[in-house]
Amino acid sequence: MDWDALEREAAQCRACGLCAARHNVVFGAGSRRARWLVVGEAPGEQEDLQGAPFVGAAGQLLDAMLAALHLSRQSNEAEHAVYIANTLKCRPPGNRNPHPAETALCAPFLQRQIALLAPAVILALGRFAAQALLGSTDAIGRLRARVHRWHGIPLVASYHPAYLLRTPHAKAAAWSDLCLALHAVHTQNPAEAP
Ligand code: URA
Repeated sequence: MDWDALEREAAQCRACGLCAARHNVVFGAGSRRARWLVVGEAPGEQEDLQGAPFVGAAGQLLDAMLAALHLSRQSNEAEHAVYIANTLKCRPPGNRNPHPAETALCAPFLQRQIALLAPAVILALGRFAAQALLGSTDAIGRLRARVHRWHGIPLVASYHPAYLLRTPHAKAAAWSDLCLALHAVHTQNPAEAP
């Protein structure tokens, strides 16, 4: 399935109960040529209303962190572009945690997005994204700060920006995770190393 067919499929998905209350399916945002893929948890209220991922306060922090690495969801240049997607494409009511069944039913969309994008690195933000992609039950504190692999693609797990807004002293650790992801991209493509 290509990007457009996948997006149409997601827009019509009724595989789990989250379709009942959604305003929009939040498929993803950014260039489909991006080499960075950021994966979050699930749409919140604003994301559900606007149909785009990370549009609230956590998204502003995410954009600022990415901008420090000259990365942006608005960029169309492969080198600077970021694609942003969530583990769940529909909002859990009241922003409750995703249920394992919802995560499992939604996983094929993210898996296909990753296959189509073929990113140089995946940044999984928060425990739900990291655990879902890594098939782990470990806490984010144990999963972060190292380079995992998702079907051969380097994957770095880090704190969710919403957590960073509540826990500003964790920002230094999150920044070091971003630098680790940058290093993983450059190590994969030594010609690009600064
Ligand atoms: N939190 C997420 O994990 N994803 C969003 O899109 C917004 C908030």
